[in-house]
Amino acid sequence: MKQSAESGSRASFSGRIGYVLAVAGSAIGLGNIWRFPYLVAKYGGGIFLLIYLVLTLTFGYTMIVSETALGRMTKRGPSGAFQAFDHSPLGKLGGWINAVIPMLIVPYYSVIGGWVLKYLVACFADGIDTLAQDDYFSAFLADSPQVVLYFVLFSVLVFAVILAGVRRGIEQISKVVMPVMLVLAVIVAVYSCTRPGALAGIAYFLVPNFRNFSLMTFAAAMGQMFYSLSIAMGILYTYGSYLKSDVDIEKSTGELEFFDTGVAVLAGLMIIPSVFSFFGGDIGKLHAGPSLTFITLPAVFASMPGGTFAAATFFLLFLLAALTSAISLLETSVNTFEDGLHISRGKASLIMAVIMAAVGLSSSLGFGVWSSVKLLGMDILDFFDFLTNSVMMPIAALATCLLILRKVGFAAIEAEVGQSSPFRRRPLYRFCLKYLAPVCLVIILASSIASALGLITM
Ligand code: PHE
Repeated sequence: MKQSAESGSRASFSGRIGYVLAVAGSAIGLGNIWRFPYLVAKYGGGIFLLIYLVLTLTFGYTMIVSETALGRMTKRGPSGAFQAFDHSPLGKLGGWINAVIPMLIVPYYSVIGGWVLKYLVACFADGIDTLAQDDYFSAFLADSPQVVLYFVLFSVLVFAVILAGVRRGIEQISKVVMPVMLVLAVIVAVYSCTRPGALAGIAYFLVPNFRNFSLMTFAAAMGQMFYSLSIAMGILYTYGSYLKSDVDIEKSTGELEFFDTGVAVLAGLMIIPSVFSFFGGDIGKLHAGPSLTFITLPAVFASMPGGTFAAATFFLLFLLAALTSAISLLETSVNTFEDGLHISRGKASLIMAVIMAAVGLSSSLGFGVWSSVKLLGMDILDFFDFLTNSVMMPIAALATCLLILRKVGFAAIEAEVGQSSPFRRRPLYRFCLKYLAPVCLVIILASSIASALGLITM
């Protein structure tokens, strides 16, 4: 980006590659390496992957193009873009919900960022063999002061970058980090996939088994798609508003999807075959949920020659990927307060610090001293993950679809996209926006709420 995002006058990306790298820095993060593998493992393996890919290429594509085009057209973030077309309370709500989601994600995102930091430190302090012990992760989570400490350290790093305004520097870093991480991920994935017994895991991950399908597979795949591609949380509006009109939106969307999905699939290949090869496909491990990555990866590294070095390098890159994403979340949130309340950057950061402390601390404690506290039957961190991904994001995405269908019109979006090249996937776009997206969103929202209230089990 020529200028940092925080400045009043609109800065712009230098071109498509700069834009794709910046968005990839935001999109590729914990969602790919931590969230995707555990969801695939838990919700049916290959069938989850298949649904995820189909949704990414249809629905996800439509949402990315829509949000980016709306941002570029209005030169505004989410609230401003909604306001530009719809002054009704519904329009306000649509913009507002898109803007609030990152504020609720960044605190618990930073808790998990803290876990990554802890693992990096522990590679040196405890050694990979200790890290690979079965109960290492659960013992860490139960130790609330430590979890809080690492959450605070990670958050301080994120705030430091935001306040120092070195966001541009971070983008430079992510240009180096991403390729190195990719190479390391390929090495680890090949290593995992060639362990004895790993084949069953590869098959579980890649071959769809329709008997594993449940409504939850669909809901989880859709939530993950939003999360991983940074859809339905205002980010792409904001990034779109910095995009020059000659950049091919369709092409950049395709590239973003390719990188993001590629890293997720690689992470799946690192982690799922290891569950089979190191833990005999233990169903308890497959359903381990948020802890999966932190249990299996150390086991893989511990068995590798030079494991401590490989693990430390990996967790460092993982940490940087998480940092670039967290920075984009916090940056957007701070911007929303600056613009919406007309306050200084410092004050806006202070408000976010309070939100971070409230949500992040309770999420941290939810695994330890507050483990008896359950919200709708979930741990506190899981609850915030569920609230944002399964409830708020479908509403936010629905608001974007309705805004286009009711106020903006296809013609305007098509003209915006068509500025740089003919809109190649126009029929697909229209179909998805008008039929596929609203129907899927309503089904997901209804089923998520019904399951949270215990009306159905998914
Ligand atoms: N997409 C990021 C990930 O996969 C998370 C994120 C969501 C980052 C929204 C920024 C905005 O980790």
